Amino acid sequence: MPSSIPTLCGSIMGQPIRFNVRMHNAAYAALGLPYTFVCFGIDDPAAGVQAIRTLGIRGMNVSMPYKQAVMPYLDALDATAREIGAVNTIDHRDGRLTGYNTDCVGAVRALQEAAPLAGQRVALLGAGGAGRAVAYGLREAGARVTVFNRTAERGEALAQDFGLAFGGALTDFDAAAFDTVVNATAAGFRSPDLNPLEGRLAGHLLVMDAAFLPLRTKLLRDAQALGCRTIAGTRMMLHQACGQVELYTGCEHAPIEAMEAALLDEIGRVEADAA
Ligand SMILES: NC(=O)c1ccc[n+]([C@@H]2O[C@H](COP(=O)([O-])OP(=O)(O)OC[C@H]3O[C@@H](n4cnc5c(N)ncnc54)[C@H](OP(=O)(O)O)[C@@H]3O)[C@@H](O)[C@H]2O)c1
Repeated sequence: MPSSIPTLCGSIMGQPIRFNVRMHNAAYAALGLPYTFVCFGIDDPAAGVQAIRTLGIRGMNVSMPYKQAVMPYLDALDATAREIGAVNTIDHRDGRLTGYNTDCVGAVRALQEAAPLAGQRVALLGAGGAGRAVAYGLREAGARVTVFNRTAERGEALAQDFGLAFGGALTDFDAAAFDTVVNATAAGFRSPDLNPLEGRLAGHLLVMDAAFLPLRTKLLRDAQALGCRTIAGTRMMLHQACGQVELYTGCEHAPIEAMEAALLDEIGRVEADAA
């Protein structure tokens, strides 16, 4: 099987970004491993997967818009990726490529740091790729999930696929019926003045936003002002990256503090550039 010196890991996506580069390289440095992580902006996902085989790349993250497109070119899918229908992580082991989905475990770990999920009444906003991963993880953790989505057909389809309730549009959300709300829509991402639940929050809620730019989205700022407990999208991002580092290196616990420092530093840099 081909191999590289140093051991190469990477990310394929439409437009390269530095968040994963910073987090992963910080993890490998903290672990004292001779790994290097590179982000590739590509336009041919089949060729991208072939490059993993040709170059002996140890592990490859997959980001927008290729999380589904890579699937036919892999040798195997783990059960979670198969159920969700999307792959964000390719593990290259003994010449075989296996697809995983760590967005799911990222969301669950981030939420469980704040409260146990079993029996929680959770409103999930969004039915795209992130919404599907979060929905599956919440269901597996025993939460009572209701899906809300701008486009009803997409929200209903997600709810049906995973045996969840569909609550309607975001404007149908009633805070009194829930303990926790997770925003997995793209509303608020790189839009610091957009809260998809404007005027609908209440102080008893635990609120997590999958959007991680800005670090404190308007949803999180409004929630905090009401006294809600909040979880930033960076926490989900960190935990999904920890899952990848653990797969690629075999370590039991990824060095989350070093990874968090690198991620927050990079987000601070991007926010300063945008200001
Ligand atoms: N923190 C993390 O680790 C992590 C990981 C993955 C993704 N994310 C974030 O999760 C979010 C969704 O990503 P994705 O990959 O699921 O995107 P996606 O597949 O394109 O889905 C987008 C979702 O957002 C909804 N939406 C978009 N604009 C909206 C608006 N203005 N108002 C209400 N709903 C709107 C869409 O509703 P329709 O169905 O009506 O179009 C759909 O449900 C993004 O902010 C992304 O950055 C975070």
